[in-house]
Amino acid sequence: MHGQSELILAIETSCDETSVAIIADGKEIISNIVSSQVDFHRKFGGVVPEIASRKHLELINPIVEEALDQAQIGLNEVAAIAVTFGPGLVGALLIGVSTAKALAYANNLPLVGVNHLEGHIFANFLEHKELGPPFICLIVSGGHTAIVLVKEWGDYRVLGETLDDAAGEAFDKVAGFLKLGYPGGPIIDDLAKKGNPGAVDFPRAMIHKKNFDFSLSGLKTAVLNYVTKLKNEKKPVNNADLCASFQAAVIDVLVLKSVRAAKENEIDKLVLAGGVAANSELRSKFGKVCSKENLKLFYPSVALCTDNAAMIGSVGYYRFKTGQRLPLDAYPDPNLKLGQ
Ligand code: KG4
Ligand code: ZN
Repeated sequence: MHGQSELILAIETSCDETSVAIIADGKEIISNIVSSQVDFHRKFGGVVPEIASRKHLELINPIVEEALDQAQIGLNEVAAIAVTFGPGLVGALLIGVSTAKALAYANNLPLVGVNHLEGHIFANFLEHKELGPPFICLIVSGGHTAIVLVKEWGDYRVLGETLDDAAGEAFDKVAGFLKLGYPGGPIIDDLAKKGNPGAVDFPRAMIHKKNFDFSLSGLKTAVLNYVTKLKNEKKPVNNADLCASFQAAVIDVLVLKSVRAAKENEIDKLVLAGGVAANSELRSKFGKVCSKENLKLFYPSVALCTDNAAMIGSVGYYRFKTGQRLPLDAYPDPNLKLGQ
């Protein structure tokens, strides 16, 4: 069916997306089914871990079938099973890992464990096949914000990270107390297009610090204090201006520190990864600054920025070929670090 290519069946269940993909030779997406549970979590304003595990359990087997059907293959044509084994919600990870173990054992296939954050980086490679290390990667997701020096595939040096909230978390929390809905990132992204980013001068925490760390919880509090003050004074709150100003403050720090990381390490490629990399203003600002600074910029299409199994299959293939295996008695690691 797919000639001489080696096919990986990849499973991703680390948070609130149940996803299964079939990937050829680590770089071609044959199928990539993503089922979001967001409708079940929305009324709680965030991901409820127990609900996430239950939904993964209900959905995982039908989605494995769907990914195989869409690829028009059977499990006998698969070379290995890859699965996210961290970081993420332990109960959610457990569903994916147990399913992957069962499939590997029953079909006598190799089992490969994949780091979710490494998956976000590799999402770029699925669409930009010419992309190779060394490069600087900004990982911005719901749970992580970090600047990473990728020296080789698999060789990662975290140059800096958030000391408190992740970028996606800040978007979700700000949208939460403005009662805009969940998840906050795409909602703020849209609303900000109609607002003035210069309307409120929110703090750019740590922007002048020489390191590559971030702090975003102060910005969140600044937004909250600003809204409370206006309400107490019975003044109207312009949500579009507020969102544009908040978003600009987040983006300014991310862009400045990422570009500085590239310059200081004499790297000419900048790569964006994770759900927040879907943000239209973030992409546009990076585009402008990178062309001015002569840096080549890469980011995945919006669908591959947020959680999906295709990116897991890409890392899975690389790990499979380098002989890395997940033992059948292994547990998921909710706190897995990049490089593990
Ligand atoms: O990578 P991801 O799908 O899951 C994690 O691994 O965390 O990222 C989800 C995060 C959420 O916080 C969501 O609000 C944010 O990515 N996000 C965005 C946008 N789309 C998703 N943030 C800003 N702008 C967006 N367009
Ligand atoms: Zn993610």
